[in-house]
Amino acid sequence: MNVGFIGLGHMGAGMAANLLKAGHQVTVYNRTPGKTDVLVAQGAKAAAQVSDACRGEAVITMLSNDDAVESVAFGKDGIVNSLPAGGIHVSSSTISVALSDKLTQAHARAGQRFVSAPVFGRPAAAAAAQLNIVVGGEPAAVKAAMPLFEAMGQKTYPLSDKPSAANLVKLSGNFLIASAIEAIGEALALVGKGGVDRGLYMEMLTSSIFSAPIYKIYGGLIVSGVFEPAGFAAPLGQKDIRLTLAAAEALRVPMPLASLLRDRFLTLLAQGGENLDWAAISGLAAKDAGV
Ligand SMILES: NC(=O)c1ccc[n+]([C@@H]2O[C@H](COP(=O)([O-])OP(=O)(O)OC[C@H]3O[C@@H](n4cnc5c(N)ncnc54)[C@H](OP(=O)(O)O)[C@@H]3O)[C@@H](O)[C@H]2O)c1
Repeated sequence: MNVGFIGLGHMGAGMAANLLKAGHQVTVYNRTPGKTDVLVAQGAKAAAQVSDACRGEAVITMLSNDDAVESVAFGKDGIVNSLPAGGIHVSSSTISVALSDKLTQAHARAGQRFVSAPVFGRPAAAAAAQLNIVVGGEPAAVKAAMPLFEAMGQKTYPLSDKPSAANLVKLSGNFLIASAIEAIGEALALVGKGGVDRGLYMEMLTSSIFSAPIYKIYGGLIVSGVFEPAGFAAPLGQKDIRLTLAAAEALRVPMPLASLLRDRFLTLLAQGGENLDWAAISGLAAKDAGV
């Protein structure tokens, strides 16, 4: 396919590279221009502005947050004003349910199609084309974008005709991951203060009753205590819990655990954790315990 890719951060760089490897023609745009060089060397075309990445059948966005996606989608030379009729905007950023609904409407008014395709997996999974991709959108548009998903992920999960359903699922998943991080942090503070070897403890749990990828990946990271450089930065984690609570409020769903996580992230950021991985909230339980 002839596809544009906007946002070459930790995740986007690997995703765009995998599109190239699969034989797609890729035009890349990044706000900070230097980040396009590596991909150009692999065969991509560099776009000088957003609109130049919107000339193909589809354009994928992988940007930090709602503000970034809004500015790229709705700017004067933005996606809505540039994508041809019938063109597909595939949004893979973790954004709010409300913005996903707004994009669905704006693209429909412009005669374009919007597919929401947020991903599970960290930068290493993005680079290895091992993402799990959750998809919401009209079946014909999802089908048309399927070769792109196949190039970037290990499995695609079409869940709903409504794009924002995929965003709700993604946010709920990140809420579950953050809850696991907090729970691991509390348990490790307990056993660590009690004199148990934290590494052996985590190894025992993840090879028996907690043998799931999230416990393995984050258990190892938390035991190592190495949170820099961040694979998924704390401000992005804080954003996801904020968006989870916004969706919960709109649907009138109390989520007391999410409220607790919100405060954990605020504490981490207030204490200088901007550049740390979001798994660093696990250290707060140890601090509280005086460990
Ligand atoms: N990292 C993970 O483990 C992970 C996993 C799943 C989902 N996600 C989600 O994927 C998205 C991207 O994450 P990431 O880790 O790749 O983030 P990142 O490394 O911080 O990259 C963010 C990208 O957004 C661009 N950007 C930010 N603000 C912008 C603006 N106002 N206008 C235009 N471009 C802007 C950045 O451009 P510059 O280079 O110019 O700064 C960069 O290309 C986020 O929504 C995140 O929640 C991340």
